[in-house]
Order: sequence, then structure tokens, then C-alpha cells
Amino acid sequence: MCGIVGYVGNKKACDVIIKQLKKVEYRGYDSVGLSVVNDGKITTIKTVGMVSEIEALVRDMTIEGICGIGHTRWATHGTPSVKNAHPHSTKRVAVVHNGIIENSAKLKDLLEMKGYSFDGETDTETIAKLLDLYYEGDPIETLQKVAQMLCGSYALGLVFFDTPDNLFALKKEASLIIGICDNEKFLSSDVNAVLEYTNKYYLLQDGEIAVIGKRNVTIFDKNNKEINKVENIADWKVDSQDKGIFSHFMNKEIFEQPWVVSNLINKNIKAGSPDFAVDGISDSYLKKFNRIHIVACGTARYAGLVGKNWIEKFARIPVEVTVASEFRYLLPILTKDTLVIFISQSGETADTLAAVRLVCGLGIATVGIVNVKGSSISREVDQVIFTEAGVEVAVASTKAYLAQLTVLFLLGLKLGFLNEKLTQDNLHLFCNELIDIPGHLKRFLAEGENKIKKIAKFCADFETIFFIGRGLDYLLAQEGALKLKEISYINAQAYAAGELKHGPISLVTSKVLAITLATQEHILEKTLSNASEVCARGGNILLIFKSGTVDIPKKFLKNSIELPHSEGGLMPFFLAVSLQLLAYHVACAKAIDVDKPRNLAKSVTVE
Ligand code: F6R
Repeated sequence: MCGIVGYVGNKKACDVIIKQLKKVEYRGYDSVGLSVVNDGKITTIKTVGMVSEIEALVRDMTIEGICGIGHTRWATHGTPSVKNAHPHSTKRVAVVHNGIIENSAKLKDLLEMKGYSFDGETDTETIAKLLDLYYEGDPIETLQKVAQMLCGSYALGLVFFDTPDNLFALKKEASLIIGICDNEKFLSSDVNAVLEYTNKYYLLQDGEIAVIGKRNVTIFDKNNKEINKVENIADWKVDSQDKGIFSHFMNKEIFEQPWVVSNLINKNIKAGSPDFAVDGISDSYLKKFNRIHIVACGTARYAGLVGKNWIEKFARIPVEVTVASEFRYLLPILTKDTLVIFISQSGETADTLAAVRLVCGLGIATVGIVNVKGSSISREVDQVIFTEAGVEVAVASTKAYLAQLTVLFLLGLKLGFLNEKLTQDNLHLFCNELIDIPGHLKRFLAEGENKIKKIAKFCADFETIFFIGRGLDYLLAQEGALKLKEISYINAQAYAAGELKHGPISLVTSKVLAITLATQEHILEKTLSNASEVCARGGNILLIFKSGTVDIPKKFLKNSIELPHSEGGLMPFFLAVSLQLLAYHVACAKAIDVDKPRNLAKSVTVE
């Protein structure tokens, strides 16, 4: 799960590649490397860590050459180390790879029989050595031969020692694009990484092989026939990635949320009612479905669970929410009346993308709720609703989640109206409540952060934290636990409050904190009873409740966060933000690299 870049042009390839690598670093920051070809020789530099490390390494070197490739790695096969870092090279060829070669063990045996030895544990090293084995001066012929031997998924960028003016690329399943300028060309895992240079690009398709020179790109199909590729134009811009006054991108992105929600309100509410015409989705299209599947991973799936709650409540349409990595193996029941909604910030998550391809292949209707324009999922679904949250840099998703909630809330209302479960008046009422959210959020962020920061110091000392709640609160508890564990490394688990007594309560000691989400009035007393059960076993409580709630026992108010008051159905917006702030400040209190927590990457492009 990695980022690939490449350059050929008039500039020093090494300098451009380092700039490009910074743009794809979100795909992995375990190690980084580059190869430049010049004068019959391939120079490869690799290091463990981030792009800044390689930048420092090459600062005092002279690496000549106008053609090269680069890679940022998220380790799948083999530890993060220099020997496992890409590019993998021999004297004659260097390769960068995103994906997984599933038959690499067999290929390795074959290569060992031929006398090759291996330095590291990666699957990619076998590709470099296979190419070396078969290379007789014709890169295309060699790539075709080797591609036939590879099982799994791959996007590959390559240079050969004796073709210093050309890069080569091919792919299967993983995405790869070629940015086009008159006298220079760029290879990249995603379009947005080349937008600084050009908005024109080719999308490489499975089985195609590209020969990329600074003036021309020649592309061959599976049958070795040269093809004319359509030039795509990116008609969007990527915001600059700047932390501004904030210490971390995560903090900045949390504070951008009032704007993110407003933005979607402006886009998707017209005359006081939800409207998706701007996304090309008509009412008659949405009216066709009597069953919905939501497929996503991680935080995006947790948004999907809240969406299910809203859609089922407003429209009375049954909704199933499935983890994307499970979906394709579950034999899901999909009929012509089923709509499958895929939610993804990056639009590149391999598990979600694989599910998209499965469903599209069956001819079932698909809608994506996606943040990144030009991403694979946004291109491959039938219809797409962009969440317009701007670039999300921090690994932990915050503003994309709130944007997903906003879209799902409006979609639920729209489906409710189309299914004659909500009246026009209901729509206006709910839309007005949503319209108030950004203002409340702004005030809550301005006034609430310092208090949450203090509470975070208290939370940071616990090694185990439960998040408990009922109904919508339970759905937010799941997102809160994920956010906390991924950036603070605290063992955080979410439980439906009523389930504690069926097992997990045996874990409760004085060393356990149960963050109790209690914003749903109709089940408040029951949730508080469950919190009392934790206290009775010596556990600690941090209560999150909404202002105006009466009859909260004093013992719970000592450690508590009070949220703005809103209709119960919209409390997820405030809960989400409070839990994000809490996770953020706990991680800061523990001096963790909040934006780049260990073992993670922003975009998960392997299954
Ligand atoms: C958690 C987080 C991840 C992502 C998940 C899906 O904070 O960011 O759980 O939500 O990897 O990613 P996307 O939305 O890009 O498909």
C-alpha cells in the first residue's frame, strides 16, 4: 500500500521526484526511495522513514539524470527497513510497486533456482529479479512476459539501465496515471499528486503498458497493439496543504468542520429541501430503490451506520451496512431494486474499490459518497456525491466523517420524502435544524476545546477506555473508540451500553474509564444505569451529555463534557466533534505524532 511517482523531462529527476513523493506520502511513510537512470547506470537511494529523510540524504549528492521513479511505502511483506524499501533494483532495472504479488513465494523459488538471491522479504523484489532474468534489450517484450507471470494486484513504475529517456508503467487493479505537459511527463498513483504541474492526464487501464518519454507517451494494450489514449482534464484544484495557525493538520481539520457542513448545506439544500440534482442524481433515480446496502471501511463505515439509522427512520427503507473487506465474500443479496452506496474519503481504499467493481459488474446501481475528486471509486461508481471537505491530510479522518454524515442525513430526508414518509414541512424543519449546526459547532469549538483539553489529560493515564452508549450514541461510541485508539494507542473499545453486563463488565476495575455517551433523551436513564454499573465495580466515568438534560446524578457531572442542545437525531454532529477533540488532546498529551500515527497510512490501497 504505497505511493508511486515518476518523472521524465528537462529537470533533474531527483528534485522533481522528491516533490512528488511529498504528495503521495499519505499512502505510506514506513520508508521512501528513488531511482534515477543516467549514462547506462541506475542510481538508487532508499531510507526508512519519511520523505524529509531522503530529502536530507540527497541534499549533498549529485544525482544526474532526467528520468526516474520514486516510492513511499506502507509495509505489507517485510518490515519497514532499507532492504525492503523500494525501488527494488538490479544493475539493469529498477521497479516501484503498489499492490501485492500473491504468488511471490513461488516466483522466488524459481528465481533462486536460476541463481538469484534475495536481500529482503518483499514480494516486489521478485518482480525486479524476474525482469532482470528475462531482459534482452526490449522493455515492452520483457514487461509483457513478466506481467503474465504475476498474480495479484500491481501498479508498477520502472526504469531500465539502457533507456535513460523513458519510464515504463503498467498496472492491474491498483491505480496509475500519467500527467502530461509538453516537454515533461509524470507518473503517479493519483491525479492530485500531479496537479501542481498539469491538469492533463492519461488513466492507465489494466493490462496496458506505457512507454513514457518527455515528449511522447506510447501505450500498448494487452495484445501489444498501440492505442490512442483519451486525454483527461482535471477540472478541480487541490487546496494547499498548510497547517496555518494549528500545530497539527488534525486540529486544523477539526476546526474546519463548521465550514464543511455549511458548504454541503449550500450545495445540497435548495428551497429548504435536500437536492442532489447538482450531483446529477435525480429524484426519479432515487425513487427506484427499496433496499440499500452501504459498504465502506473504518470511519467511513461508522458514518454509514449513522446513515442507516437516519435512512431507516426517515424513509423506512431497510439498510445493511457491511465492512468492505467482508462484503465481496458474503454473497450479498443484491436485486435490481437495490442501491449500493460506497463511502470513502480517499476514493482509493482497495477493499471498497474491490466491492465497487463486484457490484458494478453485476449491473446493480451504485452511488459513491467520496471526498477526493478524480479518485478511483469516484470514477467507477454510477453516480457520485462529492463531500467537498477539501484535502484531509491527518491520518485520522475528521472533517470527511462529518461531511459524510451531512450527506447521509440529507439523503435520508430525501428518501423519506420520496417514499412519502416525510412531508415537505418535515423536510423544512429538519433542514433548518441542520442549517443551525455549523453556527453551534463554531461556538462549541471556540468555547469547548480548552475544557476538553483538560479532560484529555485525565483520560491519557488510562490504559483501557470503554466507549458506551445506546442507539445513535452507540454508533458514535464506535467512531470515538476508533479515533482514540488509532492516535493515542490506548486500548479503546466501544460497547452497546446494555451489552456490558453480558461479558465486558468483567474487565472493569479502577483502572478502566468508561466514556459514556448520553445524548438520546428517550434512553438516557437506561444508559446512566449502565454507567452506574461501571461505577459499582470501581470503574471511572466520563459523561458526555447535551445541555438542558435534567436529572443527571451529581456523581457523573464531575468528569463531563456538555454538548450544545439539538434535536436528538442531530447530536452525532456534536458528539463526533467532541470525541475528535478528546482523541486529539489525549494523543498530544502522550506526545504522539498525531497526524502520522504508527503503522497507519491515510489511504489503504491493498486488500
Ligand atoms: C480512521 C480512518 C480510517 C478510514 C478508512 C477508510 O480515522 O481514517 O478508518 O476511514 O481507512 O478510508 P476511506 O474513507 O478513504 O475509504
